[in-house]
Amino acid sequence: MLGAGRPDVTVVGAGPIGLATAWRCAARGMRVTVYDPEPGSGASDVAAGMLAPVAEAHFGERALTGLLAESAARWPAFAAELAECTGLDLGYRTEGTLTVALTGDDLAEAERLWTYQRELGLPVTALRPAELRAREPLLAPRLRGGALAPGDHQVDPRRLVAALRVAAERAGVTLVPRPVRRLSELDPGATVVAAGCGTAALTGLPVRPVKGQILRLRAPGGAPPGFRHVIRGHADGRGVYLVPRADGEVVLGATVEERGDLRVTGGAVLELLRAATDLLPEIAEYELVEARAGLRPGTPDNAPLLGALPDRPEVVVATGHYRHGIVLTPVTADLIAELLATGSPDPAIAPFSPGRFARPAAGGAGMDNGPTRVGRTRWS
Ligand code: GLY
Repeated sequence: MLGAGRPDVTVVGAGPIGLATAWRCAARGMRVTVYDPEPGSGASDVAAGMLAPVAEAHFGERALTGLLAESAARWPAFAAELAECTGLDLGYRTEGTLTVALTGDDLAEAERLWTYQRELGLPVTALRPAELRAREPLLAPRLRGGALAPGDHQVDPRRLVAALRVAAERAGVTLVPRPVRRLSELDPGATVVAAGCGTAALTGLPVRPVKGQILRLRAPGGAPPGFRHVIRGHADGRGVYLVPRADGEVVLGATVEERGDLRVTGGAVLELLRAATDLLPEIAEYELVEARAGLRPGTPDNAPLLGALPDRPEVVVATGHYRHGIVLTPVTADLIAELLATGSPDPAIAPFSPGRFARPAAGGAGMDNGPTRVGRTRWS
């Protein structure tokens, strides 16, 4: 029990989702307490921060793609409001994303996806090698082609969490640096579980860790990196992304592994650097400053879990964001705050109800991608 001064809402988890939800709830007049022993220490501490509704639009994930696009559309106002309210720089950048292909096979595969993305009405424009290098002269000369997604932006997740903490606390949110091991430890009122991979133990929902290894490099001499767009692509089938920050940092990721440990392996570092230097050779001269692994909270259909538990309407989950926690932060916070404030879910939340796993026959978000084989490494 939390004792006297019982909050209207208790949030478990102070990553971007939990903090933004708390901020939005406080803005609607609710008294909010957030529990987390180490705010911002989960998946967001390792995340690259790509806001990529187009580059992350995959076959068979239409409902998820719609939610990504909706949240990405909210990002400019969300970032402006957060920066204004805190005076902090979020590292929000809008240069767009270039997706590139090293070989003919890489290009053939990418073109199928760009065709699908265009059929969905998403903004993606194919570019020839010379057009790519006109935008980013440091790209490898032997690239076979690429595409620009101008609306796929980026933010620095560590700066985001720092700003959300300030905004939430200024709005009156109380942060308690304590773990929650069982929901029965909390007051019986409304609870938001935004605990990432910890959600499974708290609720029994099928949220599993999907390991991602990531590197951070730094451009020489304290200069900004020699490229401005987020670069994603494939080099001989190995996928990689490179995210340049104004302060000289480049985030390079990521493996996608069906396992839950945090070991950084030589093979992953080798393959990530090989793919990255194949696409952008200058990276070989950057200082390697960090190698980390994080755990994405994955669900059986890759889509988040948003809404009340079917058998416990006072417990609302906001988790399972898998590869998309940063881009989905604004829409998640808005939809969950709306649900708590009004008691009725926005129709946009329906495909993502946790009930889709409690009642499989009722159908879900229309997505068919299950997990990959245990232990097998894929590349972004
Ligand atoms: N959002 C990119 C990743 O999960 O690697």
